[in-house]
Order: sequence, then C-alpha cells, then structure tokens
Amino acid sequence: MHLNPRIDSLSAYPFKRLADLLAGIEPVRADRVNLTIGEPQFAPPPAIASVVSAHAHLWNKYPPNTGTPEFRAAAASWLSKRFSLPIDALDPERSVVPCSGTREGLFMLGLAACPEAKAGKRPVIAMPNPFYHVYETAANIAGAEAVFLSAEATGGFLPALDAIKPDLLDRIAVFFLCSPANPQGTIAPTDYLSELIRLARKHDFVVAFDECYSEVYTGAPPPGGLGAALAVGPGPRGGWLDNVVVFHSLSKRSSAPGLRSGFMAGDPELVSAFARLVGSAGVPTPLPLLAAATALWSDEEHVETYRAAYRENFRAAERHFGSRGWRAPGGGFYLWLDVGDGEAVAQRLWRDGGIRVMPGAYMARGTGAANPGHRYIRAALVHPPQVTADALARVAALL
Ligand SMILES: Cc1ncc(COP(=O)(O)O)c(C=O)c1O
Repeated sequence: MHLNPRIDSLSAYPFKRLADLLAGIEPVRADRVNLTIGEPQFAPPPAIASVVSAHAHLWNKYPPNTGTPEFRAAAASWLSKRFSLPIDALDPERSVVPCSGTREGLFMLGLAACPEAKAGKRPVIAMPNPFYHVYETAANIAGAEAVFLSAEATGGFLPALDAIKPDLLDRIAVFFLCSPANPQGTIAPTDYLSELIRLARKHDFVVAFDECYSEVYTGAPPPGGLGAALAVGPGPRGGWLDNVVVFHSLSKRSSAPGLRSGFMAGDPELVSAFARLVGSAGVPTPLPLLAAATALWSDEEHVETYRAAYRENFRAAERHFGSRGWRAPGGGFYLWLDVGDGEAVAQRLWRDGGIRVMPGAYMARGTGAANPGHRYIRAALVHPPQVTADALARVAALL
C-alpha cells in the first residue's frame, strides 16, 4: 500500500510529541491540571444551545458553501465595528466566507493560494518561528517549502520583515501572521501589518492574518489586517483588500471551540477560490450552527465576561512570574515563560506537580539552541481564575 509521503510530516504535531515526552511519567499528585491546550474552559454562551435547538428543522439541509446571508452580514458588521471600517467598505456577499474553525480555514487557504511554482521555483509558505502548527501543515501538504522566520524576544517576538531577501519574497505564495500571537501574545502594530501588506502586493503573495485571539486582550483592542489594508489603500488590482485575508473564530472569543465556527474575510478572489475548494472537498458549517454563530457575532457582552477572566489569569501570572522570564503580553491567553530548558521543565512539572505544559520547542522549528522555543514552556491560562492561580502557584513553587 502507498501513502502520500507528505502525511509523514504530520508526526511533528506538538501534542503527539508531548505525549511521547511524558509517556511513562506518573505524577505524584492526583489533582492534575492541563495547561497545554488553548481550549477555553469557561461555560459556553447559553445562546448556542437555544439557537441550535430553534433551528433543528434545518438538520435535513446541506449547508451552502458560503454560509447564509445573515451570517455573512453579521460577520461583516462585526468586522466593520471592531476595526473601524467605513460602513459598506466590506461587501458581505463577496468578502466573507464561513469556515468550520479557523484551523481548517487556514489549511484550506494554504492549499487554495499555493501555485505549482512561484518566480520559476518551488513556492514558499512563510511563517514566524514559533508558529501555530497548521501553517506548516498547509505548506507540507501543498508541496510548498515552509520557511520559518525567527520571532524571538530580541525582535519583539515578530519576524524582521526588512531582513527577508527579495528572492525569497518573490517565492512566497502565502505568509501567515498571527496577532495576537500564539504562543507569545505579541500584538503586531498597524505599521507592521501595513508593511507586510505592501510587501505582499509588491511580491505578489497572499498575507493571511490569523486573528483568532484578537478579542482576548488586556489593554486596547489589537489592530487587525483589515484596518491596515484600508490604511495602505488600493492594491495592484485596484481593491483595498487585494492580497489580504483575515481569519476570525468563535473558539477563543466566545469560549466555543466545540462549535467549530469561524470565517475568512478579505480579497474577493481569495474568498471565491476558498469557497470553491470548501464546496468540493471541505466541511461547510451546518445551518443550525451558523445560526448560533450569527447570534454570537452580534453580541459583545459574553466576550467581555471571558476577557475579564483572562485579565485576572494574567494578573495571577504577573504575581508569580512578572520579573522571572516573562512580561505580560497585550493579548492571547498564553504564558510563554523562559525556563532555560522547556522539555526538562515540562517533565518536572508533570511529575512533581501534576501540571501539564507544552515545551516551547514543540511550537517551533530548529535543533537544540537554534530552536527559538527551546528555553520556553507554554501554559494556556484558559481555566477559571481560581484554578489558574492555583496551578500557577504550583508551577512557581517547582521552578
Ligand atoms: C493561532 C491559532 N490559530 C488558529 C487556531 C484554530 O482555532 P479554531 O480552529 O478553533 O478556530 C488556533 C487554536 O488553538 C490557534 O492557536
């Protein structure tokens, strides 16, 4: 039997590597806490159950590939308010498409936007290092070369755009950027986003802004790719959205990762290609779930409640680690902590404290000290504040 050899690249999946690292270690404590996964542990908004139930008569319908007009309008209206876009700047019919979680969406976009060759060579999918694993998966499965751009503390945890060589820029098909970033929580300023958009247009690549953490912040709301695109102005095809897409999700914002609901918005040509790919080979969001998602994008109250809990979690982290290998980031919900040797500390915390964390090296590429994550652990502060504070106290005591 023959398998697609590109499937082998999936063995780098961080959770698989973590399971291997901790296999055979029996924690001394019975009260264990899992801080490895960015899965919000808060009660989901009750509207999900009631709206899904009210739309139960639609389970006998295949969902449209581009969602419903109501969903597209709710997403476009939310984007316009949140990122201060002029009313009607976004056409919901041409610029918004739902996806079944942004993980699937980011992957599909990688496939949809990656040509056979770029500048006469193998195309590149570029990403910061560390990164969210799906960007690399998209590159591997699309047959592109994954290029990892160092995003370390010395550079403010953002890749240096002016250090990318022109011949590499010419080969880039898709550039993924996450802001606020997973894992470091870095918020890319508008100037940075704008610079990336200018490069994308000059070198004809797609910039995919992964903004699934945009609603989890401690200070001012983070800027986004659409606001930057508007500031940059029209691109080579005359549209302000040329070469730009953004991804948003209800998983973090609305504490609903099980709903598998997000959307992609931006360049109408990319939205159309994406919808065609999903239509042939993807998972369009079911109608009752789209109805629930429409309700959630139209409400901010529940989002503020979760945000307040994350702020409290960060305050607990600051109490314990404020001056020890960490500075509170502006966004996201991860503690990205410099502990010297992330793998060794992950094993120790599991064995002696019953606390499961992700070694930073598994979120990045590179061997030994050349891996920008090797000194770090990532802890997801996704539990209610009391649970998080207790877990962090245990971590601090063991370091
Ligand atoms: C950076 C980043 N992007 C995308 C996702 C995918 O989220 P979802 O598919 O639940 O929308 C995650 C999930 O952890 C993430 O950390």
